[in-house]
Formats: sequence, structure tokens, C-alpha cells
Amino acid sequence: MAEQLSVPRHIAIVMDGNGRWASKRYMPRIAGHKQGVDALKRIVSACPSRNIEILTVFAFSSENWSRPVEEVSALMDILAMALSREVPKLKRDGVRLRFVGAREGLSERTKAGLEQAEAATADNSGLSLNVCFNYGGRWDIASAAARLATAGTPITEASLSSALSMAFCADPDLLIRTGNEMRLSNFLLWQSAYSELYFSDLLWPDFDEAALDAVLLAYASRERRFGKTSDQVSGNSAATT
Ligand code: IPE
Ligand code: IPE
Ligand code: MG
Repeated sequence: MAEQLSVPRHIAIVMDGNGRWASKRYMPRIAGHKQGVDALKRIVSACPSRNIEILTVFAFSSENWSRPVEEVSALMDILAMALSREVPKLKRDGVRLRFVGAREGLSERTKAGLEQAEAATADNSGLSLNVCFNYGGRWDIASAAARLATAGTPITEASLSSALSMAFCADPDLLIRTGNEMRLSNFLLWQSAYSELYFSDLLWPDFDEAALDAVLLAYASRERRFGKTSDQVSGNSAATT
């Protein structure tokens, strides 16, 4: 009998490399961000047939406000445009969309767009798509701790975990970063404690189904030990004494 390959239930992606993709083509960085939306659409469509239940993507970090004002405002426009074009299809496809990150600092128009998109897909039970927007891992941990302190709740690993912005789902099994950078850049600092990391040298607009399948194959050969020994994990009890 063919052995079932292990599949990550939850994949998180740092979608990096849009600007370089555009610069290589002598195009403005914004063109790379637009192309990045198409890459995201491909990967969202690819997840269900690969039994991936949750996809979390990093779209705009707490630190991305430091970019030139024209780029920030173009990113806000691209978000609004992508939502108005794509939400009807996401709704039809059963995708449940959630935005994770600080709402403070976003314009009323952007906040309304996020709320409408979430409401439109709230009854869906297919792929869970979490878009981290105005998100930072440090923001997440600090605001969770502040809420617990205000409520007088003792801070433990369990209470802090359940106060974080992604407490509604399991931690990512696999965290991919495209764009050939080997860092987390303040993404899911707490939740990635035991995620398998995969760094791809593809720029995000070039990432496609074949690239995803290559990462899934690599994931299937990883051994997740969670602090145990290899023998314990493989159930080789004779060797565990
Ligand atoms: C990632 O691509 C998208 C955002 C951060 C919004 P970049 O814009 O960081 O692309 P590079 O890293 O400059 O190529
Ligand atoms: C991380 O990419 C944020 C997103 C992909 C949204 P950056 O391009 O902002 O990260 P750094 O600045 O290279 O670390
Ligand atoms: Mg980048």
C-alpha cells in the first residue's frame, strides 16, 4: 500500500520579493505588488486539492509603514481593488477570509473593506484564509499580554496563546518565505515555535502550484520531533531505553 505523504494542515507564507520582481523588469515596484495578488490567487485555489485547511499570508507588516508614502498608499489601493474583485469568488469557493493585525492606523475605507470581506465569507467552511495586514508578531504578543493584564488574568503559556490574534486556529505546520531572505521579519513569532521553515529563492510573483508542490514534498520528508528523540517519534520503542 502506498504510504500517505504527511500534509501540513496550516501553511503560513511570507510573500516576499514583489519589488525585486518588478525592478528586474524595469517596472515600478507597484507592478510587482499587483502581480503578487495573482500569485496569491493561484495558491489559494491550489490549497483545497492538496488538503491544506488553513493558509495564512503576510501581506503588510507593522514596519511596512516606513516605506515611501506612494508605495504604502498603492498597497492600500491594491488591497481595496483585490477585495472588490475577488471576494465574490472566494465566497462562492467556500473560502473563509479573516484579516489579522491592528485595525488602528488603517483608514476608515480600508477598515470597512476588511469588515465587509470578512462578513461576506463568515459562513464559509472551506479553506480558512488569514491575511496578516498591519501585523507584527511583537504587536500580537504585546497586545495579548496587555489585554490579560487589564483583565487581571495570570500570564501563562496557555492564557497568552489563547489571547493572541490567531487563537482561533492551530499553529502553522509549515512556514514558507519566498524572495531568498532567511528571516521572519516579525511574522508569527509565537505561533512559529515548531513550524517547519522553508526558504524559497523564488520571488513571490513567480511562486506557483509546482513550487508549492516542491515545498510540500520537502515537508513530507521532515521529521517533526517537538523536543523528543527520533526513536520516540518513529515509534521505535526498542531503542528508546
Ligand atoms: C513583499 O514584497 C510585499 C510587501 C512587503 C508588501 P516586497 O515589496 O518586500 O519586495 P522586495 O523584498 O522589495 O523585493
Ligand atoms: C515582510 O517582508 C513583510 C511582508 C512580506 C508583508 P519585508 O520585505 O517587509 O521584510 P524585510 O524588511 O526585508 O525584512
Ligand atoms: Mg521584501
